Amino acid sequence: MLQHGRFILLLIGVITFVLTLSSINLLSKSIAAQHYASLGAQSEEGQTDWLRFLDRAEANIGSHLPQFLHHESQRNVITEETRKSSGAESQPRSSRAQMLQPPLSNKKASDRKICKMLPNTDYWGEAIVWGPQNKVDSAEECCQQCANYSPASEDDMDCNVWVWCGDKERCKGSYRDCWLKHLAHPEAVNPATGPKVPWTSGLSGVDNSMDDDPKQVGGGERRYHVVVTAQGSAVHWQARVHYYWYVKTRAQCVEQLGVDCQMGGFTRILHSGRADELMDEIPTHVVEPLQDRDNKGYVVLNRPYAFVQWLRTAVFPERYVLMSEPDHLWLRPMPNLMLGNHRPAAFPFFYIEPAKKDFQRLTEKFTGPLSLKQAESIAPMGNAPTLMSLKSLRKVAPTWMNVSKAIFDDKEAHEAWGWVLEMYAFTIACYMEGLPTASLHIKMMAQPPWDTKLWPYYLLHYTYGMDYNATTGEHMPGKYGEWRFDKRSYAQVPPPRHLDAPPDLVSNELVRKLIDVINEATSAIPGWDDYAATGVAKQLWNGNFR
Ligand SMILES: *[C@@H]1O[C@H](CO)[C@@H](O)[C@H](O)[C@H]1NC(C)=O
Ligand SMILES: *[C@@H]1O[C@H](CO)[C@@H](O)[C@H](O)[C@H]1NC(C)=O
Repeated sequence: MLQHGRFILLLIGVITFVLTLSSINLLSKSIAAQHYASLGAQSEEGQTDWLRFLDRAEANIGSHLPQFLHHESQRNVITEETRKSSGAESQPRSSRAQMLQPPLSNKKASDRKICKMLPNTDYWGEAIVWGPQNKVDSAEECCQQCANYSPASEDDMDCNVWVWCGDKERCKGSYRDCWLKHLAHPEAVNPATGPKVPWTSGLSGVDNSMDDDPKQVGGGERRYHVVVTAQGSAVHWQARVHYYWYVKTRAQCVEQLGVDCQMGGFTRILHSGRADELMDEIPTHVVEPLQDRDNKGYVVLNRPYAFVQWLRTAVFPERYVLMSEPDHLWLRPMPNLMLGNHRPAAFPFFYIEPAKKDFQRLTEKFTGPLSLKQAESIAPMGNAPTLMSLKSLRKVAPTWMNVSKAIFDDKEAHEAWGWVLEMYAFTIACYMEGLPTASLHIKMMAQPPWDTKLWPYYLLHYTYGMDYNATTGEHMPGKYGEWRFDKRSYAQVPPPRHLDAPPDLVSNELVRKLIDVINEATSAIPGWDDYAATGVAKQLWNGNFR
């Protein structure tokens, strides 16, 4: 009887796990389809490449999505069985990393660190020491194990994340499990948190000051110029809404801080080669699109090329630049987040992984051989949103262009990195030009519907579709919701004024805010009804906001 009960429990466990896997799968497919559509790819083949790429990113999606609770203990135990069929990648980097007991420390007792506990927090990470084989009595003990851990060699992973389960009732079989883990960029990961999470976590040797606002060091000396790149009807209206909120947010910033406000001037780089009707509304610099003589479909390479051209003649007073996109909206004034004057500050993208086991070899095609530390010093970022000095950008842009082309022309790297290859090219170019590794700031940008709270974000990126059940307010990822907002619905013509607010029961603050923000701009910009009908702006906004 008891045996029977266990078997059923196990069965339920396996079914739940498979369902979770398939919902992650579904989700990433939908993200994939959206990215794909947004980039305007034409060929079936391109789509397959992209889906394959996303399949590989799947195992990592969880690090960005706190709502999927999937502790390593579940993953590892079950994926042992299902790995082959699911292709999930949770295998530690080296076989040495699979050792069951922590190696004896050769660090001195004086190295003991003060442990900062994060209760009700579960960090993702690559397992170095597995919890079920490493039971300890307290979070402190687990933390010390992580601090004292010594990797076998320079090229093995060190412990910088630990998680411990101390709630006997809720941890069940995981009670007292102490996992030692490694993350290439712990500050770039949103851990699962909340009263339902029985785990306690901590970071070792990582300054996780995500919640503290950096001081506005340097005041107006560190003001940055905002640049967005744009071309085509899909981003025409986005640029207008973006610029409206930039002007309004900058006015708030100046009101609060006066000359110390660090938001500076604005440029839209229009890479269509032709002026459009918004030249007198948005400060704009026109550059040529890439001449695609061989018709190879260099779509994503237009962006680096646009920057290279703009930098040849650009003149503005700011010494720093924020690269942004038309579909980033301003939520509140952003200080120059750079630590020091040379180290870029960037939003981390979980799918940019130059140091990942399968990818490091590809990265090395462009950089030459890399140690693990070097590979991990290539930050998981793209060019936007990224803050850097104008001097650094001038240095990096031509290399960014070249590396983009080189990746594009390399069959293997192109296939692996697909439509985000120019993001890889940007971070690889920063490394090749010897820039300090960027500091990473999750709070730079919210990405609803996966992020849900307004605080502490500065920008809102509306790239993912948002689908909700109109009756229950339930989020329906990958399905067609009765209430939905997707920028792809407005790729040909702008959205109308007064978009419907999400159903009352939708608790996602960012989705609600997004609709408010778009509605305010479309009401304040004159002639929007005609603009929404024709896609042509006949009346321009005069810079007055509500
Ligand atoms: C970019 O590539 C071109 C052509 O191969 C080369 O002449 C140029 O020096 C390269 N520039 C940089 C900055 O790497
Ligand atoms: C929304 O939820 C209701 C109640 O659970 C359900 O009957 C309905 O089918 C759902 N709608 C969609 C589109 O899934």
